[in-house]
Amino acid sequence: MGEKHKVYFEPVGIEIEVDEDETILEAAFKHGVMLMHGCKEGQCSACKSFLLDGDLEMDRFSTFALNEFEQEEGYVLLCRSHAYSDLEVELLSYREEMLNTGIPIQLVYAEVEEIEALTHDIKRLVLKLVDPPEMNFLPGQYAELYIPGSEEHRAYSMANTPSSDERAEFIIKIYPGGRFSSLLDGELKVGDRMKVKVPYGVFTLREKSEGDLIFIGGGSGMAPILSILRHMAEKGIDRRATFYYGARTRKDLFYLDEIKELGEQMPGEFRFVPALSEPEDNEWDGETGLITDVVKRLEDDLSGTEAYMAGPPPMIDAALPVLMRLGIDEDDIYYDKFTITAEAEEGDEMEAESGPEFPGRVVE
Ligand code: FES
Repeated sequence: MGEKHKVYFEPVGIEIEVDEDETILEAAFKHGVMLMHGCKEGQCSACKSFLLDGDLEMDRFSTFALNEFEQEEGYVLLCRSHAYSDLEVELLSYREEMLNTGIPIQLVYAEVEEIEALTHDIKRLVLKLVDPPEMNFLPGQYAELYIPGSEEHRAYSMANTPSSDERAEFIIKIYPGGRFSSLLDGELKVGDRMKVKVPYGVFTLREKSEGDLIFIGGGSGMAPILSILRHMAEKGIDRRATFYYGARTRKDLFYLDEIKELGEQMPGEFRFVPALSEPEDNEWDGETGLITDVVKRLEDDLSGTEAYMAGPPPMIDAALPVLMRLGIDEDDIYYDKFTITAEAEEGDEMEAESGPEFPGRVVE
């Protein structure tokens, strides 16, 4: 343990105590203060803030996340910063309602209870929570699942809700060579022990507002959206909602009936629009095309609506301008962008794709 210092965040007026040995971001998580973050490794710049006063030092980071010029100006990455005096830090972006969730990060020991194929490359992983036998999070948040026997971890959203008893459910796309996901192809067995750190992420339903909702998901981006929809059904949240889900072919679709059922349980009007970009045959009578094009085709005015998107970066990058053109305020668009660093066939690392404005997290 190192010396302790105080960090005061402007303009939100929150103060936390930080140990020199931990990063400011970690310390904030421990206090249940969910600051903006992505990679947590100095790669994406989601945690970029401005140092107003005090001394800090940063661990290694990518100049893509913070360039030399910015560093000289006083910008810092909170996921790399250690305080060496009391500090005053200006947050450049934050989600007001996430700043005091009061849910500190916790470590949970769990056991694999079930691994089920949902499609040819998407699996459902159910963990039984052992010690402690529960975890606290907000619907839409994610956990770090540790690769057994290692300190490496990958980030996956819970598909269940916080009220699920002693269980956590994840929807995981299998990437060949993926450090975690490929274990689900036979290596990980029922009964195996696993470490889970939870919760992370600021992708969660803004419960205080009453506006209409549009959800856009692709692939395993189903998980955080499903968690939010299940939560809405459980709590009887009465808001008009539409869920656009994009898949390539019919064999990439799953949970269609479950989502329709959830829609029936929700008090508000609910529309589910699955769409196939490569329908392949005539048996599909639903929407076709890229999910963003489907949204463009079916919607003409989304002003006053809140948007929640989860899935691969190209889907989110394509949808952002479309939603804004349809009248959604940029501040009302929330997204959870997945980044893949799966090893290529020969073991070469592929670049992480997270960008400064649209931080991602590693899901392979
Ligand atoms: S650079 Fe800090 S969270 Fe990515």
